Amino acid sequence: MSNKTPDTMSKVVALCKRRGYIFQSSEIYGGLDSCYDYGPLGVELKKNIKEYWWKNMVQLRDDIVGLDASILMHPKIWEASGHVVGFVDPMVDCKTCKGRFRADQTDSTPCPQKPSKMVTECGGELTEIRQFNLMFKTHLGPLEDAAASVYLRPETAQGIYVNYQNVLQSSRVKIPFGIAQTGKAFRNEITPRNFIFRTREFEQMEMQFFVKPGTDTDWFEYWKQQRIAWYDGLGINKENLRFHQHGESELAHYAAAAFDVEYKFPFGWKELEGIHNRTDFDLKRHQEHSGKDLQYFDDATREKFVPYIIETSAGCDRTLLTCLVDAYAEEKLEKDTRTVLRLAPKIAPIKAGIFPLVKRDGMPELAKKISSDLKKHMMVFYDEGGAVGRRYRRQDEAGTPYCVTIDSQSLTDNTVTVRERDTMIQERISADALLAYLQEKTS
Ligand code: GAP
Repeated sequence: MSNKTPDTMSKVVALCKRRGYIFQSSEIYGGLDSCYDYGPLGVELKKNIKEYWWKNMVQLRDDIVGLDASILMHPKIWEASGHVVGFVDPMVDCKTCKGRFRADQTDSTPCPQKPSKMVTECGGELTEIRQFNLMFKTHLGPLEDAAASVYLRPETAQGIYVNYQNVLQSSRVKIPFGIAQTGKAFRNEITPRNFIFRTREFEQMEMQFFVKPGTDTDWFEYWKQQRIAWYDGLGINKENLRFHQHGESELAHYAAAAFDVEYKFPFGWKELEGIHNRTDFDLKRHQEHSGKDLQYFDDATREKFVPYIIETSAGCDRTLLTCLVDAYAEEKLEKDTRTVLRLAPKIAPIKAGIFPLVKRDGMPELAKKISSDLKKHMMVFYDEGGAVGRRYRRQDEAGTPYCVTIDSQSLTDNTVTVRERDTMIQERISADALLAYLQEKTS
């Protein structure tokens, strides 16, 4: 959007704290670096984004089923996947400030002691480059020896691959088909940054689509189009979205082709989602390491083959940040400026604010009744505190698409006014029609 400026990020961060979207983790103890907690509005927004993803990727389709694999998995999975050896970032330490940095980002990382200078300019002495594995290690059970070592999963994808045969045998799916999963992933990032953009604990929304070799290029193209359309449906401005094709040097070890969906953040174009043609790499590796036959038998053609996989791998927290940044606007009005989050109504945490115009004459009672009736169907927020104009502004900042006011006329003819967040236009409708009205506008 045209009104994004370099300080939009700090304004979004401040709004997140002020309105209860996102808080620094462990704040009363000084905070835990790169970890964040979702507050009352943030948790609703996150839930709505995940539900919208699940609806599009699972519920509305006949060819995709869901899964929820455990975070801790057999350590051999990460040997087979290539993560034990290959999931590394090059790292250097500074002997002067004791900081640890990504070796390929020292010219864009500020020195912790002299923040006006980058690590390459501050004069600190850097060590040789070392490879740093990004997986978090922990122990299963009471013994802290090597045999008990397990990893917190760095991606949800592997849980899908190792369950591919369980799903095939239990769900009557046939190739081409997909398995979808949302869940937490953990990476010990050397330089987490930009609020919730890059953190050490985050949530992914991944779908792995199993296809016959030779049809993979067509499916890859299909999924690229489906996924960019999904962000459009989320209400993200089209001009802030683009594809980035991975060149030879960027391709992950498993990918034959990869495109990122990128968003134009105030800090530059950045990856939101990776769409990968993973070939038969993953299933072949699990076949080798587990000793199990992971071939697919095609009843119709009597052929046996290891399926190719097209992966769509999105970050839930990054999508949420995108929604907030894209929706953030400051709008000059006649007398003042208002801050408004123009979130798509279907993902807005609260669908309607319910206000009695004043705190007397039976208006609060009617407003509370309307609020509790609506609550059975959607998130609404009852507010009787302060001037109605102030209450509108609070909901504008929270991203609430509709505000319903109960006034003296409501008591005589059972009508209410509904104010729309973006246009601020108000219309009077029957209280009996309110639920259907809000459901139609916010679904
Ligand atoms: N299974 C493939 C995979 O994990 P990836 O490109 O490493 O691919 C997919 O990650 C998505 O997960 C990214 O596009 C991003 O949205 C999200 N993601 C990855 N690392 C992240 C981090 N440290 N913090 C927040 N989101 C992250």
